[in-house]
Amino acid sequence: MSDYAWWQEAVFYQIYPRSFADGNGDGIGDFEGMIGALDYLQDLGIDAVWLSPHYPSPQVDCGYDVSDYTGVAPEYGTLGDFKAFLAGAHARGIRVILDMVLNHTSDQHPWFLASRSSRDNPFRNWYVWRDGRIGPHGERLPPNNWEAAFTGSAWEYDPVTDQYYYHYFLKEQPDLNWRNPQVRQAMWDAVRFWLDLGVDGFRLDAVGTIFEDPDFRDHESEMGLAEIWQAMAVAPPGDVVAREALQECWRKLFARQVDLPEVHDLMKELRCVVDEYPDCMLVGESDDIAFYGNGSDELHLVFNFPLMRTERLTPPFVRANQAERLGALPPGAWPCNTLGNHDSPRVWSHFGDGVHDRELAQLSLALILTLKGTPFLYYGEEIGMENRPPDDLSQFRDTLALRIYDLAVERGLGDAGAFHIARQMTRDSYRTPMQWRNAPNAGFCPAEIAPWLPVHSNYARGVNVEDQMGDAGSLWRFYQEMLRLRKQCRALRTGEYEPLLPDHEDCLVFLRTAPSEQCLVVLNFSDQTHVLQLDSVGTVQRVLYPSGLHTSHDLGALEVAPFGIYIAQVARNCSDEERPK
Ligand code: NOJ
Ligand code: CA
Repeated sequence: MSDYAWWQEAVFYQIYPRSFADGNGDGIGDFEGMIGALDYLQDLGIDAVWLSPHYPSPQVDCGYDVSDYTGVAPEYGTLGDFKAFLAGAHARGIRVILDMVLNHTSDQHPWFLASRSSRDNPFRNWYVWRDGRIGPHGERLPPNNWEAAFTGSAWEYDPVTDQYYYHYFLKEQPDLNWRNPQVRQAMWDAVRFWLDLGVDGFRLDAVGTIFEDPDFRDHESEMGLAEIWQAMAVAPPGDVVAREALQECWRKLFARQVDLPEVHDLMKELRCVVDEYPDCMLVGESDDIAFYGNGSDELHLVFNFPLMRTERLTPPFVRANQAERLGALPPGAWPCNTLGNHDSPRVWSHFGDGVHDRELAQLSLALILTLKGTPFLYYGEEIGMENRPPDDLSQFRDTLALRIYDLAVERGLGDAGAFHIARQMTRDSYRTPMQWRNAPNAGFCPAEIAPWLPVHSNYARGVNVEDQMGDAGSLWRFYQEMLRLRKQCRALRTGEYEPLLPDHEDCLVFLRTAPSEQCLVVLNFSDQTHVLQLDSVGTVQRVLYPSGLHTSHDLGALEVAPFGIYIAQVARNCSDEERPK
């Protein structure tokens, strides 16, 4: 028996249901497809799945606008199909966590339809309704100057009852009023519904946005969201100071809408709900370590998003990131790392340099699987799927991008300029169908069917599962090998992180130390060979990667090839104090 919980040792794999596997051939992923892909996931070697929303939804925000928290979207299948998927995953030793969208519902949810129907409807107080203000010329104005994070005012006027409702995201995603105990009860019932079916936990969407300032005071930012985005678009990627200043403007703009302290009491309450079920876990969509609470009374994990959001993974950046985050965690809290998800560019495209993309993709995986903490992978990264932006406006499915387009047109950028910006910002680019085979539509759906988003044409050039599984030198096989290696090595799963060579610009070198085992990790992020002097660390017991290397080579002059990866179990030298007298 391990002293660690399953979610500390597991590698998670995010499935985006619409894009992963299409069982019935209608161009939309579904449970039939996911059930058929379970053997694939087992072969790859992941331990747990995070399933993006599978609930009924008008799909205005691709499922993050839920219209029934205890159902299954008909295009994905039935509750029976869901149960079969869960049973199939569990039979293979794969855990499943669901996406729980707490902050808002769809505007088509029966709760909201009732809420908006009249001011005295029993559901009125389930959402955030306010009177408007009257402007200097008698015009109707929203209750305050808050903006929505997905463009425009955070307030939508509803003529039926002559009030405004609040939405942090799209206007089709009204915020729930979490200060109403009935809302809490209803949502905890939904949580229990899935836990009773046997799910292993939840990824909590947008946890920071659940509460807003109860006095609805205006924000005090000089810059609006459109100006911040525009400035971001022209700030050179390397200009850290300008970018940090713009992030500060963003924080000021939304200061009264996110991360209110009340949310922590709510998370404690939710933790008590999931603790009724043994072994369940919560991971929050936030990088704020305050969500760990005291280390055991709020969320089990939050993501180390700064790692994912950096322009380039460099050894100095990763070392600083680890020092800052690991140093700040409360006792007992466990880190969690990821490099990609459905809101972030593909690992291959983001961290590649256009020349050494394959090498950098391998290093990225090696990094995420060897740092201390639970790794989350995103479907398709194992074959090096790339961003695939839409060709024209008709291919956009991400409403946020369409709203950005409208905003850009309003701001006078013209059709071409607006399209350019929307195309750059659309999340559609990283949500395209999984590339299963070298066949029309990458084998995702039949040739005569248009998939819900276009497929990247590089499936015909080796970026597909079937070809890569059959090729010993493929990225997929590298993923499989690294996942196996992590499984075999306790220190990599649970050991402490101990940085070495703290000033090396090109090589990230660290130890993972468990009581019974130590593992040395060397990642060369440069195109130069480096010879490292690491004999003070100890002696090599077993080289884990590259496989086939003999064990007796010398850590005193360890030669690491350009973009090289070296992982070995080592026996440490005793320090003078530890040396037996
Ligand atoms: C975060 C989700 O990851 C994103 O895809 C979604 O648009 C927003 N939350 C709103 O739910
Ligand atoms: Ca389908």
